[in-house]
Amino acid sequence: MKHLLSAADLTRDGAEQILATAAQMHDVQRREVKKLPVLRGRTVVNLFFEDSTRTRSSFEIAGKWLSADVINVSAKGSSVSKGESLRDTVMTVAAMGVDALVIRHHASGAPAQVTDWVDASVVNAGDGTHEHPTQALLDAYTMRSKLGDLAGRRIGIIGDLTHSRVVRSNLILLRTLGADVTLVAPPTLMPSGIAEWAAAEGFSYSYDFDEVLPKLDAAMMLRVQKERMTGGFFPTPREYTVGYGLTRERLRVLPDHAVICHPGPMNRGLEITADAADEARSLILDQVSAGVAVRMSVLYHLLGGGMSADRGEDRSAARTGAEGRGATGGMSADRGEDRSAARTGAEGRGATGDMKA
Ligand code: NCD
Repeated sequence: MKHLLSAADLTRDGAEQILATAAQMHDVQRREVKKLPVLRGRTVVNLFFEDSTRTRSSFEIAGKWLSADVINVSAKGSSVSKGESLRDTVMTVAAMGVDALVIRHHASGAPAQVTDWVDASVVNAGDGTHEHPTQALLDAYTMRSKLGDLAGRRIGIIGDLTHSRVVRSNLILLRTLGADVTLVAPPTLMPSGIAEWAAAEGFSYSYDFDEVLPKLDAAMMLRVQKERMTGGFFPTPREYTVGYGLTRERLRVLPDHAVICHPGPMNRGLEITADAADEARSLILDQVSAGVAVRMSVLYHLLGGGMSADRGEDRSAARTGAEGRGATGGMSADRGEDRSAARTGAEGRGATGDMKA
């Protein structure tokens, strides 16, 4: 796999491989010394045309822990603010010899467009209201850590769905993993054509949060995206919370085993109250932590380990074998005195073995 532009780029096997490698990376993340040499000599540029805290910093940390050289370029403070086009900016950065471009852009489809202009691997870190595949991967990783296999699990995605790229990627990936997904939003924030979309893709939708709530294994609350709104989508913030917020009253109805997720940033008191955000069932900080491991895994698969189980034809099986061994050999060569390094090496070989299968 060369690029990760959409959750639809991943087969079930492909997604499973990324999540399995993420688990290994999560072990590395818990070590005192976190560096793996697998992307030494590779360069990753984070090109962010929209604001971000979590996504950009986790891609940066992920690249650094894999020993890549990581450079951050943001629209503010770059020539973009002088009117440079996306193409010129991207070509300029690529001309420096970049191996991966991690792109966040306000226009849906921008990362896909960039793949026509550069040889580097491109990762979509959120494009307009379209997709955010690494967010969906980290959400699945986090929910699985508490719920186990997601097949048949009932996952509600609740909130401002019209403006959300997270919902689209989650829907695709969760369906790939066999989960039973229900979208919940007020009519004004439900994507248009929802009935046809739901029928075609095999998911449910509802305008009634209270009816869905008691059946859920996971409640994924999405942010009300005020910055993308023109006009009034609901009468008052208070009314939104009453109808669609995860409030203290609703926490009593949510099953005890169910988990709470939110990709952040949160509007506390609007889509989620402080009680819900901070309670034991809330996985919001686990999501942030998983974000680093998942992005390490994605960069590793795109640049270091290769991957043959994506939806495209297998162009890289031979290369994957060679590089996979090299990469994991590198992993196991990490700090001789670290006992977990050898284990990571072995697991790493397992992962790349699976990749070749
Ligand atoms: C999301 C995004 O930017 O798409 N946040 C994130 O990546 N952590 C969701 C949001 O902005 O509400």
